[in-house]
Amino acid sequence: MELHPERALGPTAWNELSAWLLQREGTYTSYHILVDSHTHEYVLPRFMAEIEGLADAHILEVEPGEASKDLALVEQLALGLRDEGADRRALLLALGGGVVCDLAGLLASLYLRGIDLVLVPTSLLAMVDAAWGGKNGVDSEGTKNLLGTWRPEAPVFADFRALETLPEREWRQGWAELLKQAWIAGGGLWQTASTSDWTQSALLTAEAAQVKLEVVAEDPYERGTRRALLNMGHTVGHAVESLMLGTGAACGHGDAVAFGLSVESRLLDALGRPGAEARLLLRQRLEADFEFAHFRELDPQAVWARLQHDKKKLGGQLRIVWCAQPGEAEEVDVLTEEAFTQAWTADAQH
Ligand SMILES: NC(=O)c1ccc[n+]([C@@H]2O[C@H](COP(=O)([O-])OP(=O)(O)OC[C@H]3O[C@@H](n4cnc5c(N)ncnc54)[C@H](O)[C@@H]3O)[C@@H](O)[C@H]2O)c1
Ligand SMILES: [Zn+2]
Repeated sequence: MELHPERALGPTAWNELSAWLLQREGTYTSYHILVDSHTHEYVLPRFMAEIEGLADAHILEVEPGEASKDLALVEQLALGLRDEGADRRALLLALGGGVVCDLAGLLASLYLRGIDLVLVPTSLLAMVDAAWGGKNGVDSEGTKNLLGTWRPEAPVFADFRALETLPEREWRQGWAELLKQAWIAGGGLWQTASTSDWTQSALLTAEAAQVKLEVVAEDPYERGTRRALLNMGHTVGHAVESLMLGTGAACGHGDAVAFGLSVESRLLDALGRPGAEARLLLRQRLEADFEFAHFRELDPQAVWARLQHDKKKLGGQLRIVWCAQPGEAEEVDVLTEEAFTQAWTADAQH
């Protein structure tokens, strides 16, 4: 199956969505737009003004934030769709960040065994990463994305106009994923990203999204190790993110991934992999753009315990997949408690 056969990213992507809808006039019996209360307030009015063909759309709204990635909420939203009269030929559009895209993806997969889905990412993180690749999911008992499906065929229309209202904190969340993707790509993208800060991210969005598309195209269902590269920083990142969220503290996904990149890069140092200088440069970039003090206060044993829930564990072994240097082939390393503790300690002493 082709990955997002219809897709657009740039300053006029919504015009392409208008054209896409126009071409399919008569195909859908109803339109439903999932938003969170922020994208409802800041993005939906402009979106509705720019897009033709959605005047009669029904709006489904959730609270902003990771807590909305919840299976009970998916059921509630399904009941909402039912009450709005959605049948098998209903179209669901996600207008929001990664949370709304993930939630809409699962809802569209489950509702009446599957209805058509269009993703309209509105955060930098979703434009660079979450909207591409066809995965969706909700969290359970602190385990991220425990339940989810694949919808690689879903069209994506990522319009930069949405970013005009994105708060600074959220730009930084996307910047973490962008840095990760620039490291995977190496070359000019890494050169530019490593010597820029998050304020330059808009200029690099398209290239970074392309990295994800290429990696996913090589390994669409994550059978090999290539796609796992996109999880660089996420093994430790997800563990600290779920611990922080468990304490009720606010924790951005990108902030956690940035910290995860920092700790995991130390693991490659501990294993004596080449490229220590480039990894130091990565950490300097991360230290300059992110705040890690609150993560470093976590108990490493609690983080290790949480790591045991990592869904990427294979045959009982926790693995991390990294390129040791920007743009290199991926390598797989086993994350033992000893190596983790060593990397954590080195990071704490930065
Ligand atoms: N499915 C995947 O492949 C994949 C990949 C990476 C990340 N993710 C998921 O994505 C989620 C993180 O995404 P996120 O950072 O976009 O989070 P998010 O959806 O919570 O959005 C972040 C915040 O920005 C607000 N917002 C979004 N767009 C806005 C706009 N244009 N103007 C004003 N406010 C806006 C949202 O309301 C929210 O408060 C995580 O749950 C993560 O697991 C999924
Ligand atoms: Zn991520």
